[in-house]
Amino acid sequence: MEGAIPCPPPNTRIAVVTGGNKGIGFEVCRQLASSGVTVVLTARDETRGAEAVEKLKGLGLSDVIFHQLEITDTSSISALAGFLKTRFGKLDILVNNAAVDGVEYDQELHTNNGEKFGGLDFHQRVEWMLKHAQEPMDAAEKSVQTNYYGTKHVTEALLPLLRSSSDARIVNVSSNYGLLKHIGSEEVRRELNDIDSLTEERLDEMLNKFLEDFEAGKLEAHGWPTKFSAYKVGKAAMNAYSRILARRHPALRVNCAHPGFVNTDMSMGSGVLTPEEGARNVVKVALLPDGGVTGVYFANGEEASFLQ
Ligand SMILES: NC(=O)c1ccc[n+]([C@@H]2O[C@H](COP(=O)([O-])OP(=O)(O)OC[C@H]3O[C@@H](n4cnc5c(N)ncnc54)[C@H](OP(=O)(O)O)[C@@H]3O)[C@@H](O)[C@H]2O)c1
Repeated sequence: MEGAIPCPPPNTRIAVVTGGNKGIGFEVCRQLASSGVTVVLTARDETRGAEAVEKLKGLGLSDVIFHQLEITDTSSISALAGFLKTRFGKLDILVNNAAVDGVEYDQELHTNNGEKFGGLDFHQRVEWMLKHAQEPMDAAEKSVQTNYYGTKHVTEALLPLLRSSSDARIVNVSSNYGLLKHIGSEEVRRELNDIDSLTEERLDEMLNKFLEDFEAGKLEAHGWPTKFSAYKVGKAAMNAYSRILARRHPALRVNCAHPGFVNTDMSMGSGVLTPEEGARNVVKVALLPDGGVTGVYFANGEEASFLQ
């Protein structure tokens, strides 16, 4: 499974990136490794993950190791935590990048996307996505399980290792779709933004209510988003969780980073940034100077509001 590289020198920073086999995650691995960080590139599929590591080694980046990680599988998460503990005894940077979009597209739309989007501007591309995406219940559930609970469970399992680092950072790869402006209900917006009172238990209740309303066809009536709804609600919950964590662990830097609208499989090739550009917006947050901000949302590499 994991490749054999010698133990890094004591001052070397160790990073874990989830969903590192492709898209923004792969580029985050490449850029962190290029900055002298030892990177544990994780992927749920061993073959895709090992191929990604080989690609990076082919670029001369030798301090990259593969470890399998399916973020919705507790035994897979435990295996990664055990490996990191034995191998490094600490973790300096966790980039929670893995996610799913919670929507489905007709099969024929998966082909020739580059050509399809040529000549369309940013807004037309977003419109295309909104028009063609369908949201079945199982995709919505999977999205909440992956993007919120998967991220949270990976973070919880790796927290003891992060707390063994003298300057630990967590970057939760977010989205402008997770901004609170997308939630129509003033009450839900207020609760998600009231970080001094919000609890993880309340977040669970809110997500359960969202899925209940989704199934009952009551999204609009109860002020939830109606397009990319599970993705938006899951990312908003992940943002809120990041802020709770930042408050609870002031010694850690816990921030959210929106990479921009990036040309990857998730955006069906419609994005306007390259994965390299999108990843730069994430890596900038991961490598902020010591003692930097925590509990903050970054959009395209700059501090921004969680609201709009
Ligand atoms: N692309 C954009 O425009 C955009 C905009 C805003 C935010 N983002 C965020 O940026 C991040 C990366 O997105 P991307 O565009 O690079 O997407 P992508 O190309 O679809 O890559 C997603 C990655 O997540 C992995 N993944 C999905 N579910 C997983 C699971 N349960 N366990 C482990 N790995 C899992 C995928 O693995 P497989 O290859 O095995 O499927 C893949 O490596 C996501 O958090 C996304 O929400 C993207």
